[in-house]
Amino acid sequence: MQTGFAIHDPILGIESSCDETACAVLSMDGAILAECVLSQDGHARFGGVVPEIAARAHLAHLPDLVTRTMAMAGLDFSGLGAIAATCGPGLIGGLIVGAGVGKGLAIGAGLPFVAVNHLEAHALTARLPGLLPGGAPFPYLLLLLSGGHCQCVAVEGVGRYRRLGGTIDDAVGEAFDKVGKLLGLPWPGGPALERLAATGDAGRQVFPQPLRGRAGCDFSFSGLKTSVAQRIAGLPSPLPPGDAADIAAGFQHAVAAVLADRADHAMAMMPAARLLVVAGGVAANAAVRTALTAAAQARGVAFVAPPIRLCTDNAVMVAWAGVERLRLGLHNTLDTAPRPRWPLAELGAA
Ligand code: KG4
Ligand code: ZN
Repeated sequence: MQTGFAIHDPILGIESSCDETACAVLSMDGAILAECVLSQDGHARFGGVVPEIAARAHLAHLPDLVTRTMAMAGLDFSGLGAIAATCGPGLIGGLIVGAGVGKGLAIGAGLPFVAVNHLEAHALTARLPGLLPGGAPFPYLLLLLSGGHCQCVAVEGVGRYRRLGGTIDDAVGEAFDKVGKLLGLPWPGGPALERLAATGDAGRQVFPQPLRGRAGCDFSFSGLKTSVAQRIAGLPSPLPPGDAADIAAGFQHAVAAVLADRADHAMAMMPAARLLVVAGGVAANAAVRTALTAAAQARGVAFVAPPIRLCTDNAVMVAWAGVERLRLGLHNTLDTAPRPRWPLAELGAA
C-alpha cells in the first residue's frame, strides 16, 4: 500500500470477480460518467458459474468494454486520474484478467492503481452521493446477501470492518439458486423464484426459519433447502404448478423472516449504527427489502437499499471504493497480487 498525491481527474473501475464483466468511470466526487455491465450468458446450461468459462469471457470482452466505457465518458486515458480493479475475493481467473488489464492501463497511462476488495466495494456503495442526503455516515450495519457471500458487518470506516455474523453453511443467494433448481427454474434461481412466488400463497407451504431467535446474527440455509427438497419429494411428480408457486412463496417468506430477525439482532448488537444497508443480488428481492425495512423501522434505524443495478455486481462500486481509498491517500503497488480469498477483516485502511 502506498500513500500519496491528491487525485482530481476521474477514475476507471473494473469488475471481473465472478460472471459480470463491468467497467465504470466516476468523477472524484462520485458522479457516474459512464457504466457498462456485461452479464455472461454461457453458464446457465451448467446450472452455475463455470470458472474457466468466466475467465475466458472476461478476457474476450474486457478490453472492448473498457474502450466503450471510456468513449461513453468522452475521455481518453490521459484524462483519467487513477485505475481501480477488483483484486479479490472471487474466481482467480477473472481476477487475474481484471487486475492485469487495470495494472496494464495504469502502467501505460502512468496512473496510480487501487486494488479493490470486492466486499469493500459492496460495503461502501451506500456512501455514493445521491443515495442518502449527505452520504451514509459511518458507522452503519451492512447485510451482504449474494450468491457467494452472506454476512453481517459493522462498517466503521474505509478499511475498518467488524464481522458480526455470517452463514454457517450456504449463502442466501445459493439457497435461492438451489431451491430454484429443485423447482425446475432456470439458473440463477433468485429472480425466477421471486416471479413464481408472486403467484403462490406462503400460508399453504410453511417452512422452518433456521436460527430465528438465536443469539448473534449468524445465518443457516442448508436445512431450509433440505426441508423444501423433502416437501417436494412428498408431492406428485411432476410438481403441480400451484404447489410449486406455493413452495416458492413459502420458501421466500421463511428467508425474508430469518433475514429480518438476524438484522434485528445485529441492530441490537450495535446500537451506535443508526443505518442498515443491504447489498448483493438478493437485495433485489422485494419481499426481502420489505422485511428489512420493517425490521429497521421497528428499531428507529434508517434503511438503505441501493438501486438494484448497484446491488448486483457492477463496476460503479469498484470505482467508488477506489475514490474512497484515494481520498485517504491510499493506493497500491503494481505487484499487488489478486486474492481468491480476501476477508474484509484482513483489509486495513493503511
Ligand atoms: O451479488 P450477485 O449479483 O453476485 C454474487 O453472487 O456475487 O448475486 C447473485 C445472487 C444469485 O444467487 C441470485 O439468484 C440472487 O443473487 N438473486 C436473487 C434475486 N436476484 C438475484 N435472489 C432473490 N431474489 C431476487 N430477485
Ligand atoms: Zn458481489
